[in-house]
Amino acid sequence: MARNTIDIFRKAKTARRKVTMVTCYDYSMARLIDQTDIDTILIGDSLGMTMLGYDSTVPVTMDDIVRATQAVVRGTTKPFIVADMPFWSYQASFEEGMRNAARLVAEGGAQAVKIEGATQATILLVKELISHGIPVVSHLGLTPQSINEFGGFKAQGKEVNQISEILLACEQMADAGVKVVVLECVPAELAKHLTLTFPFSTIGIGAGPDCDGEVQVIHDVLGISAFKPKHARNFVDGASVFLEALRDYDAQVKAKTFPTDENTSHVDEKIISNAEDYLDGLFDSFYGDDDFLDN
Ligand code: KIV
Repeated sequence: MARNTIDIFRKAKTARRKVTMVTCYDYSMARLIDQTDIDTILIGDSLGMTMLGYDSTVPVTMDDIVRATQAVVRGTTKPFIVADMPFWSYQASFEEGMRNAARLVAEGGAQAVKIEGATQATILLVKELISHGIPVVSHLGLTPQSINEFGGFKAQGKEVNQISEILLACEQMADAGVKVVVLECVPAELAKHLTLTFPFSTIGIGAGPDCDGEVQVIHDVLGISAFKPKHARNFVDGASVFLEALRDYDAQVKAKTFPTDENTSHVDEKIISNAEDYLDGLFDSFYGDDDFLDN
């Protein structure tokens, strides 16, 4: 089966079929996702919090995202791959934004990049990227790279001024040619309105049930997060499953019931003593006849 393309979003919206997206940052998880029907993967800058233990996404670098994207691409054959543009990879200058987006595609293997916010500079960048063949997923509502401006991880779009800003941003993103918009932590009513009004696909996270698709952080889905946001559901108690396995491993090594013969390879002890003789011989030829191995 060929890898999904950006068309999957339009086709699903037309067919009123929900699109599923999950974050992923490594090869092993990517291989698991590839065995499901999950449509698309986001290499999100949430990796800063889930994988690196930062308290926000702000310290994440381009190298972090490129390395993770390469691993996820290597581990998958089917899902559409979106990579996040991390904090300050596009804000300082237009040229840097163009270069970094191209790096995620050319070096990382992403099929689209995700960019937070809708400043005038961002909209210009988004337009240029799309016109040069790099699809852009816009991220509106709660944009975690701006938590210092928001004063924390706070829901957006509850007041007239915030709703106007989001509506204007959607208008501008649609004009720029954006086909997919992530809506994070906005009220369900606003998300539904945007989904019905605009031609792009909306992918919600904390945005109610009426978006064209849903994205969740994989650590939340698997129940292995350090914290659980209101918009998430643990579909398995992964922490308990893993803890049981780790405690069992610890106990079995200490009880000497692991490893067993099944996990072990063997060599004739005579070959080990031949190797010692061989090393002794070598040592003698260089340094005289002192034993190399003192036994
Ligand atoms: O980085 C991330 O995981 C994200 C999602 C929350 C949409 O941007």
